Amino acid sequence: MRNRILEELYNNKGSYISGEDLRIKLNVSRTAIWKHINTLREEGYNIETAHRKGYRLLEMEDKLFPEEIKVRLFNNNIGKEVLYFESINSTNSYGKEKADSLKSGTVILSEEQLEGRGRRGKEWQSSKGTGIWMSLVLKPDLQPTEGVKMTQIAAASVCKAIREVTGLNALIKWPNDIVVNGKKVCGILTEMAGELNEISYIVIGIGINVNTVKFSDDLKEKATSLYIEGNKKVDRKEIVIKILEEFEKLYNLFIKELNLEHTLEIAKKYSAVLGKEIRIIQGKKEKRAKAIEIDNEGMLVIENENCNKELISSGEVSIRGENGYI
Ligand code: BTN
Repeated sequence: MRNRILEELYNNKGSYISGEDLRIKLNVSRTAIWKHINTLREEGYNIETAHRKGYRLLEMEDKLFPEEIKVRLFNNNIGKEVLYFESINSTNSYGKEKADSLKSGTVILSEEQLEGRGRRGKEWQSSKGTGIWMSLVLKPDLQPTEGVKMTQIAAASVCKAIREVTGLNALIKWPNDIVVNGKKVCGILTEMAGELNEISYIVIGIGINVNTVKFSDDLKEKATSLYIEGNKKVDRKEIVIKILEEFEKLYNLFIKELNLEHTLEIAKKYSAVLGKEIRIIQGKKEKRAKAIEIDNEGMLVIENENCNKELISSGEVSIRGENGYI
């Protein structure tokens, strides 16, 4: 019921809806409505009451309120359950710990992470309220080898969402990062568990620097935020919603029809590496190459220094531009 009330308030955002209208529409007593409104207020929703006019939802604190996200994703499977934390060690660690009891499609969001993790054991700075620190828990009926494609679906979704919400020229640095003006705004950490021929769960962790104002000296050469690049504050919730909508579309196409076409279309159209001279870093080894193509399986086709073509799979490498980060 609380969700239905919120949905009505949301659809009338900024204007009043009377208690009587809500009562008729939702078929509950006015006292029940009043109680639900009070609970919503306690959760942080900014709902104003005016005599004879009713209730109205006002602009809210910049928080990633789960109810509001769920309401906006009404028919989505991804985001039907949204778990929200003010603070957590890591949304990915939580997702992995609780995976058995969480439904596929559960989204975990936190305002801050105390032990945010990046790839290759690196720390991921996740300070309070400045970014999107989010994990998706999925339990697809797929072979583990197909799991890496989830990262590409996530990267395509994030790239599109950033472009649509901010108008910035976000590009995918195959396969895991999103960059704007040559600097990283988003990293993706996909973790998977399962048997040889069965995935038991995948946790896709997405970290986006949204309203970060300043980076430490060791990061500022290669990291940036949407705020820094666009010079204006960005509504994190709009980005979360767009990512989850886009992810739902691309994920369903893949799960139901094994169709990765749309994801690859986005990956190619907004690629930061295709056609570029790159350095491929694999453990301690590094080689120069030219990025030629992304093939139908999402692998990167490169031309090596001997002019031979090679396939690079996303799990194995880190990529840098010839001159610097990308
Ligand atoms: C990388 O580029 O190294 C990957 C960064 C992934 C960060 C996200 S933030 C949400 C989720 N929880 C984590 O601890 N890490 C991922």
